[in-house]
Amino acid sequence: MAVNRFKLPRSVKVVLMVALLCYLSIVLVGMAARMQKPAYPWTVNDGYFPAALVGLKHTDSRLTSSGNQTAEQKTAKPKTAPCPKTIASLTKYSKWFRERYQPGIKLFLDRDDTKHYDNLSASGPPFGFKRQNLTVLSQILQHKDFANPPVHGLAGRQSCIRCAVVGCGGILNGSGAGKEIDGHDYVFRLNRALSSGRFANDVGKRTTFYTFFPESQHLNDVEDENVLVFYAIFKAYDADYALNMMNGEKPPKYISRGKTYGVRTPVVSPTRVKFVHPNFFTYVFKTFLDSKAYRPTTGALVVFLALHICDEVTIYGFGYDPRFTMHYYDTKFVVHTRASTGTHDVDNERKLWHKLHEEGAIRLFKRDL
Ligand SMILES: *[C@@H]1O[C@H](CO)[C@@H](O)[C@H](O)[C@H]1NC(C)=O
Ligand SMILES: *[C@@H]1O[C@H](CO)[C@@H](O)[C@H](O)[C@H]1NC(C)=O
Ligand SMILES: *[C@@H]1O[C@H](CO)[C@@H](O)[C@H](O)[C@H]1NC(C)=O
Ligand SMILES: *[C@@H]1O[C@H](CO)[C@@H](O)[C@H](O)[C@H]1NC(C)=O
Repeated sequence: MAVNRFKLPRSVKVVLMVALLCYLSIVLVGMAARMQKPAYPWTVNDGYFPAALVGLKHTDSRLTSSGNQTAEQKTAKPKTAPCPKTIASLTKYSKWFRERYQPGIKLFLDRDDTKHYDNLSASGPPFGFKRQNLTVLSQILQHKDFANPPVHGLAGRQSCIRCAVVGCGGILNGSGAGKEIDGHDYVFRLNRALSSGRFANDVGKRTTFYTFFPESQHLNDVEDENVLVFYAIFKAYDADYALNMMNGEKPPKYISRGKTYGVRTPVVSPTRVKFVHPNFFTYVFKTFLDSKAYRPTTGALVVFLALHICDEVTIYGFGYDPRFTMHYYDTKFVVHTRASTGTHDVDNERKLWHKLHEEGAIRLFKRDL
């Protein structure tokens, strides 16, 4: 008995053909999109991370950090979807990063550190308090208004934190990156962080964390209220200044090599200040900067704080790109030199940002002109 061949009606055949064509075109469009180079400016998730990291489940619950965690924080549930890739998980894939990154390192001083003077007194500022007035340090850390709030706030750490670190590099002038920057969970700024008026379009407006030392303090330019302030003690004077800041007093005169400098009074509530731990300076300097120059820059410090607070970090306005002026707010073109950067080792830091970018730890904002 012959088997009857099943015959499709003509209309069904047409429908199937159309469906097949649609499917093929979707696949082709998808492939073409993937082959395209990421367009500037980047979107937050352009998949630049190493392929090995894409699709990873975020398993790290909470990077050890920074001050005391509240009870709510300890029990807080993650609030957002897990990151496909995190800085902490990069240690599995990058030998270079694994050999250097210390996830448990203490980022900030707390009251307990007054018990560790021996530890803090091994080196001079910024790597410790050797030959410093320890009474001053004690008065700072035991100050009644030193609340040392947790970086992630009382609501706790969410599971996927995407951060922008905004440096002052001239590459940001005309970049139009402001909206992208403001789209991150946390925005880190430092020093002369002009972020209002005509700058907002290029550098954004939001600030979550602001880092400074006495002469670089421009808190008046930071628009957001309730920023958390990270204070960097680079030299002996900075500790005296810190105590005055905690007391709400005018800063003492800054005298260096016989010259007296006027220093602006910080407009910051002592309850919003955190102090970068000297051991963290040492870690960044020895481990990532190979002890070159004589200390890490504020920018380097802030990028590494972000690498310990966030799951993904994009840095803007870093890298000392010689095609651009020094700072995005310069009115005349300023060339990058050792002198113009205040003895920073420009080449060494530039190399580091590119290395961290290649390894997938950060994304370095670049521009093709
Ligand atoms: C951290 O917690 C310990 C123990 O609960 C407490 O003694 C200390 O004062 C806290 N430190 C800060 C900075 O709140
Ligand atoms: C201070 O403590 C840190 C962290 O525990 C440690 O790495 C460092 O070696 C100590 N330094 C001294 C001089 O004890
Ligand atoms: C250390 O600082 C305290 C508090 O400001 C001050 O009273 C004391 O005289 C200082 N000690 C030295 C040796 O400078
Ligand atoms: C900033 O950018 C504008 C336009 O893109 C340009 O005219 C100006 O010269 C730049 N400023 C500096 C200091 O490079």
